[in-house]
Amino acid sequence: MNEKALDETSPLYLSGALLDGWYAPSLRGDGNTGLGRWSEADIYQFLKSGRNRHAVVFGSMTDAYNNSTQFMADDDLKAVARYLKSLPGDPGRDGAPWKYEETSGGALAMGERSKLPGTQTFMARCSACHGPDGRGQGQWIPPLAGSASSMAKENASSINATLNGSGRVVASGIPDAYRMPSYRNQLSDQEIADVLTFVRTSWGNRGGTVKPEDVKNLRERTNPASSEVIVLQMR
Ligand code: HEC
Repeated sequence: MNEKALDETSPLYLSGALLDGWYAPSLRGDGNTGLGRWSEADIYQFLKSGRNRHAVVFGSMTDAYNNSTQFMADDDLKAVARYLKSLPGDPGRDGAPWKYEETSGGALAMGERSKLPGTQTFMARCSACHGPDGRGQGQWIPPLAGSASSMAKENASSINATLNGSGRVVASGIPDAYRMPSYRNQLSDQEIADVLTFVRTSWGNRGGTVKPEDVKNLRERTNPASSEVIVLQMR
């Protein structure tokens, strides 16, 4: 991996990058695609428990969490959180602040958007967990409305999570109960592209459409998440 910048003198420092088939989001104050809407306490909680009301760790952050950040001293985690909140975002890159827009289950079934092919898939396969309103369920199921992964123009994390599901998050020796299932064997490239196009253009999200070729490409390059065995053995 090539570093874009080495310290905070560059506005590109910690501003997000593609890594192992995931898009590691900005850790700067970007309100849509970074930590702008997270409080210092949210960041601390994320590093300590692997989840908060905005997101759950994914990709290589799951390993970083399982094997490292949860074991750091509280004071260090708080210092990291404070430091990250000191890095300004870039509205030029990030765009106008996200605002929730109503695209609710009822309206979906009736309205314009019911014509989008991904709408039905979302209601049938995803809404039980992520909610017809896209808001998720507290810290257990992350929201898709306003999430960095649904706002970033890079769509790798949306696709990878849906294709491969999530790796097991092990907090204080206890594996998590709620996981993102893998849809690799249940949905075609076209169906995943359609459902994610729905997700990334609903509720005020502006990540944009997903093409079947993008899904095909990641399908060939990635495998279903399975970090649990390694993690349990390392503890
Ligand atoms: C059984 C509950 C469940 C179902 C059904 C489900 N998800 Fe998830 N989803 C989760 C959980 C839990 C996570 C957090 C996983 C993690 O990152 O460890 C998640 C994470 C995600 C993420 C990553 C979000 C982020 O930014 O952190 C995306 C994208 C996603 N799901 C899309 C979908 C789509 C699309 C469907 C339907 C095809 C779907 N999910 C169905 C539980 C579910």
